[in-house]
Amino acid sequence: MPESASTIAPKVDALYFYLSGVTLFFTFLIAGVLTFFVIKYRRRTPFEIPRPVAGSHKLETIWSVIPFLIAMSIFAWGAQVYFEQVRPAANTNEIYVVGKQWMWKLQHSTGQREINELHVPVGRKIKLIMTSEDVIHSFYVPAFRIKSDVLPGRYLSIWFEATKPGTYHLFCAEYCGMNHSGMIGSVIVMEPTEFDNWLSGNANQQAPAVAGQQLYESLGCVSCHGAKGEGGRGPALAGLFGRTVFLNNGQTLVADESYVRESIENPQAKLVNGFGPIMPTFQGQVTPDQLIQIMAFIKSLQTPNAQPTAPAAPGATGSAVPGTNSAPSPTQNIR
Ligand code: CUA
Repeated sequence: MPESASTIAPKVDALYFYLSGVTLFFTFLIAGVLTFFVIKYRRRTPFEIPRPVAGSHKLETIWSVIPFLIAMSIFAWGAQVYFEQVRPAANTNEIYVVGKQWMWKLQHSTGQREINELHVPVGRKIKLIMTSEDVIHSFYVPAFRIKSDVLPGRYLSIWFEATKPGTYHLFCAEYCGMNHSGMIGSVIVMEPTEFDNWLSGNANQQAPAVAGQQLYESLGCVSCHGAKGEGGRGPALAGLFGRTVFLNNGQTLVADESYVRESIENPQAKLVNGFGPIMPTFQGQVTPDQLIQIMAFIKSLQTPNAQPTAPAAPGATGSAVPGTNSAPSPTQNIR
């Protein structure tokens, strides 16, 4: 087994051993019974006629019910581990991941950029928000037992909490072209104080939320959505992420990264109730990196009157970092 260095890893391993145990048990049981019957009921004379078998309801019930219960236990256990892995935990530090042929580009919510290297603190929950610039990649850290496809035009997220300082392999686990095998990197898990030092030593880069605000202004979003996302000719954006949006065709959705991206690139696809199809498309005008920055800016508008925050002081806890999850009220209307 690869080294186990995240909170989810022992749970994935336990499920894996359970599956292997069930498989081995039935493999040997069936092989054993088969061998036994082959010997016991072998043909002894050339014209031997076997006794007819009438069947047994009791036996059939047993061999249906037991496998059913085992299958359901695998389903229930597997679903539980899966949901824990894909549902973002509260109070995560967000890191943006962009895959491209053939490298991993990562950016911390405080602005630090990395390529093929990811520094994270031990014992803090990290949420990765991932997209691709070109083809399908897959972000795989065996020691953390996390793996998620990274898709162009969509945002998938996965979270982990590292439990041991060290350097761990990062792989691309989806064949993505000629240098797929070279699309590797490392995740460096550090003690929190050491990590904060590292972060402050690299603090010369602009936070995505700040870069996003500049784009928001230079692209003219501000003229319809308001300087602070308060809305106007366009829907309000403050507090948008995680909120239920009512569309003019009567449908509702919960605003997430994929919805925001679609609304920027193809604004007519989903019109918010009460607003006309007046927004121009920005398809081809914003790169995946810039989309992430705009999203980080919109996230920084979570609370009314909030300014996009400058990079949080290294050493601050996760809750002070822009882009950190807050609990949005599900009852709020986008209007
Ligand atoms: Cu990217 Cu394989």
